[in-house]
Amino acid sequence: MLKILNIVGARPNFMKIAPIVRELRRREDEFRPLIVHTGQHYDEAMSDSFFRDLGIPAPDYHLEVGSASHAVQTARIMTAFEPVVLEEKPDWVLVVGDVNSTIACALVCAKLGVRVAHVEAGLRSRDRAMPEEINRILTDAISDLLLTTSQDADENLAQEGVAAEKIKFVGNVMIDSLFYNLERSKASKARENLELTGRDYAVLTLHRPSNVDDEAVFGGLLEALEAISERLPIVFPVHPRTRANIEKFGFGERVANSGIRLIEPLGYLDFMNLYSGARLVLTDSGGLQEETTALAIPCLTLRENTERPITIEMGTNQLVGTNPDKIKQAAFGILDNPPVRQAKIPPLWDGRAAERIAAALLAAGG
Ligand code: UD1
Repeated sequence: MLKILNIVGARPNFMKIAPIVRELRRREDEFRPLIVHTGQHYDEAMSDSFFRDLGIPAPDYHLEVGSASHAVQTARIMTAFEPVVLEEKPDWVLVVGDVNSTIACALVCAKLGVRVAHVEAGLRSRDRAMPEEINRILTDAISDLLLTTSQDADENLAQEGVAAEKIKFVGNVMIDSLFYNLERSKASKARENLELTGRDYAVLTLHRPSNVDDEAVFGGLLEALEAISERLPIVFPVHPRTRANIEKFGFGERVANSGIRLIEPLGYLDFMNLYSGARLVLTDSGGLQEETTALAIPCLTLRENTERPITIEMGTNQLVGTNPDKIKQAAFGILDNPPVRQAKIPPLWDGRAAERIAAALLAAGG
């Protein structure tokens, strides 16, 4: 019987941990899974609604660290998590993704000699200005089992000198959640409540510090989005960081006078209901690049790089950066010549990654 502490902290963690915990609980003779929520995200809309939508059991531990600078937040998570590890003495701690909670908990375990499994290992944007890139590199360097979503990730790890026996290509748990919930998301009233019909809208998400903390960059993005929204209305569920900066930079009136419609962040099923019906998605998120690829929805990524190149090579993603003209050109290209929607789903994005993760943990042993 393996005792596994599963860590969640921020919004993009919840849909990754849900299928893993479900699978570990199903195999009750082999695993004893516990859930630790660091509290990096804490709002109803950023956290609680995801537990409900995804059917994640209530956390066994809630560390309630909240928002703070990177150093303070990371330190608070470490300080609060160490006693939990000492008390529970798990066989494995399982961390997902690339948020501050991921590296903080991995580091605690590395120092205590407790084994860490990293789900979504090996992704690299090669942009160290991105806090997530630092979290990815460091977490991989100290993890004992590196569970990857794509073969480019295996190659990245091999290049960094990680021993082949630590790396296991298991596929994408985010897509496990997508396929598991797609049918359920059709019952959501999100689209209907926004009075959207057909594929007559685009969906936008934007929250990277590099895009929304710099007034000139954010202003340039807004210029492109204003122009696109004249042809196709854009629905924009706004992350708290982004909303604060719209106020700070005085962009509220520009947005109000455009075809961009700001709404509150949506829960998992409501957001899926919304983006799955969109003609176009514009985003700087990591996960949405993958979800649009799995559903063959055209996606423009408003960043200069991506740690998920497979979504470009096989999927529907295009990297367009932050130059307003380039963004407009790409968006108008899609609107003028809608691409044929043919899903080319990357290998092992098949809804069964959690099963392979459970098998990999068992094979690695207690
Ligand atoms: C974090 C992750 C990022 C992920 C994003 C998804 C890191 C380094 N970044 O960034 O990878 O894509 O989550 O959302 O871990 N806030 C609230 N309520 C909340 C949470 C945050 O109002 O529940 C506000 C706070 O003012 C906070 C700000 O949002 O200061 C930013 O939150 P933070 O967790 O620091 O980083 P994110 O930008 O959300």
